[in-house]
Amino acid sequence: MTRHATITGVGSYLPPRLVPNAWFEDKVDTTDAWIRERTGIRARHFVEDGVLTSDLAVEAARRALATAGIEAEQLDLIVCATVTGDTPFPATAVWVQRKLGLSCPAFDVNAACAGFSYALASASAMVEAGIADTVLLLGAEVFSRILDFTDRSTCVLFGDGAGAAIVRASERPGIEGTVLGADGSAAEVLIMPGGGSREPASPATVAAGRHRIFMPNGREVFKRAVTEMASACRQVLEKNGHAPEDVDVLIPHQANERIMRAVAERLRIPEERAVLDVAEVGNTSAASIPIALDRAWRAGRIRPGDLVLFTSFGAGLTWGATSMRWTMPAPEEVAG
Ligand code: UT7
Repeated sequence: MTRHATITGVGSYLPPRLVPNAWFEDKVDTTDAWIRERTGIRARHFVEDGVLTSDLAVEAARRALATAGIEAEQLDLIVCATVTGDTPFPATAVWVQRKLGLSCPAFDVNAACAGFSYALASASAMVEAGIADTVLLLGAEVFSRILDFTDRSTCVLFGDGAGAAIVRASERPGIEGTVLGADGSAAEVLIMPGGGSREPASPATVAAGRHRIFMPNGREVFKRAVTEMASACRQVLEKNGHAPEDVDVLIPHQANERIMRAVAERLRIPEERAVLDVAEVGNTSAASIPIALDRAWRAGRIRPGDLVLFTSFGAGLTWGATSMRWTMPAPEEVAG
């Protein structure tokens, strides 16, 4: 019998501190109106001092385990997509494993804001191959710690949070397939340049702010995001025998409402089928899709049998799209 993989649990966690756009007005030359109009963002959540990426991930994981109706001990793999992990190494997935009191394999995926697509493809392929049966798939970020609060072109965009999904072996097909892409020729358009072998951490790199996010040409990133996400969506739909009009729920990476609307428009997917959840979350990078997924499912927007399309885009450049037939029951039928 063919082994399939599907999502059987979802969860998310946003730290309680909600930071409205107005908070930035006395830090950089910006306005609440500019941020709302250009991005759709009204607020984002930031962690308090001492809270780590793995802390957010563990909260999201506990919620996902509850909706899947399983215990942490049943997990046999943890995959975490992040670029703002607790430590450069070991992996944040390992810190999560320790906090959950487990001993299963654990590793991180670094594909920036496209991390969830790459991690989902890894998790489902490992389930289909029989390497794992029950995977905790995480997207978790604490972007507030790498923001440059003097750079208005980036600091207003990002937030902290974590999302989780339980990916399990199933007899029924759930996750149908993923299309991934990358273009390293554009690596510098969105980058944290310091801290690796290219620019090892030193007093000079710290003084120059090289351990912060740089996006010198946001408009170029915007254009590529629309083109690549729409193209990846078309490819994955075609590969799995669907047309864009078959899509019930589109969950794009939550970077900017204008980008998400443009992707839906290019695919001719009606906007009301797209989950736009950036307003009070901001761009949480690899966490954005699993957070939006969890919140949309809990709001009753995703029903059993729906064709769900995820698509992401981020630094690298990297991108991806996954189609899946939703198999989880409606939230009112789930205890967690
Ligand atoms: O998640 C990973 C992928 N990241 C993305 O997908 C982000 C993609 N890019 C974007 O979402 C948008 O390009 C931004 C939101 C970053 C910028 O919006 P835009 O409409 O593309 O603006 P722009 O970069 O073309 O800048 C227009 C103007 C510029 O001023 P001048 O040169 O026209 O005088 C910017 O300096 O807006 C200025 N600007 C701001 N003004 C007020 C840039 N940031 C701000 C700000 N407040 N926060």
